[in-house]
Amino acid sequence: NPSDFVKIVEVGPRDGLQNEKTIVPLETKISLIERLSTTGLRVIEAGSFVAPKWVPQMADSTSILTHLSRSPPPAPKDVSVSYPFLVPNLKGLESALTPSNPASEISIFASASEGFSQKNLNCSIDESFKRFAPVVQQALASGVKVRGYVSMVIACPYSGETPPEKVVEVTKRLLDMGCYEVSLGDTTGVGNPYSIDVLMKALVDAGVPVEKLACHFHDTYGQAIVNCMVGLANGVRVFDSSVAGLGGCPYAKGATGNVATEDLVYFLHSVGMTTGVDLEKVSEVGAWISKAIGRKNNSKVGPALLAK
Ligand code: HMG
Ligand code: MG
Repeated sequence: NPSDFVKIVEVGPRDGLQNEKTIVPLETKISLIERLSTTGLRVIEAGSFVAPKWVPQMADSTSILTHLSRSPPPAPKDVSVSYPFLVPNLKGLESALTPSNPASEISIFASASEGFSQKNLNCSIDESFKRFAPVVQQALASGVKVRGYVSMVIACPYSGETPPEKVVEVTKRLLDMGCYEVSLGDTTGVGNPYSIDVLMKALVDAGVPVEKLACHFHDTYGQAIVNCMVGLANGVRVFDSSVAGLGGCPYAKGATGNVATEDLVYFLHSVGMTTGVDLEKVSEVGAWISKAIGRKNNSKVGPALLAK
């Protein structure tokens, strides 16, 4: 039954690492991506082509893309893995589409709040769309898939509560532009089952196809799993997560990591969904990366499972 299948978008190598103060060595990043590739994950966000002055941790994304193209990581039989990169403007697209080894997929990222758009992209929401238009056009013309993000879908530390209508508007603009999927970012993890339900219903009532939506929930307040449950109940079948719950956004005060991939997979399997992800393998990757970068493992399931 296809409606039982949930696609997990692993964002650890990008969202998980972008906020690390100490530069994570390129070999560690590549090893993380390679290890994740063996777990059955279908999508692994691998880096971002943003201004290195803004996010120094992602400055080696060209080396990552080159490596992935020259030596594709081993994936399980019959699984093909996509490695998207974040792109904010045409300069980023140029790096993503190097003639020798272009990325097969990119993500553009918009905000539902003006305050965060200014902090994260240094421009208004409207200006960001003016920048995205040629990026999407050129990417699609080159056969590159484009995913869209909307940040601050519940509330924003700079602008306050986000009206669901604003999320609907930005989501529709991204889809109309040609994004094949839009990921709804609760960037600072302030959503609760009620506010997420209101948002999901506003999107569906406005005619946004639920098949084109993904949930991208940060776990700052420990609500990410229960919020994913609400997304699932509303028909969402794509969820973003980060191994060991790594991460945070450098331009969102107080934002910590995404829901841990291990916890998400455990939850989904326990309610009868399939993901194709090997929970034990991904738990081992979570333990390894936490140790490698000297971070507490923020997954509950991973350490519990490995302790058995
Ligand atoms: P700006 O300063 O207004 O841009 O930043 P600019 O065009 O004036 O350029 C300034 C400098 O950056 C120039 O260099 C450019 O060449 C360079 P200089 O001449 O000073 O040496 N530059 C670039 N370099 C490499 N790649 C590029 C690029 N663009 C400009 N693509 C800009 C505007 C958009 C570039 C900047 O604001 C930026 O990079 N922002 C990205 C911030 C970011 O990465 N945030 C985290 C990801 S979003 C997120 O985490 C949320 C998400 O997870 C969902 C959720 O949780 O809600 C997706
Ligand atoms: Mg995020």
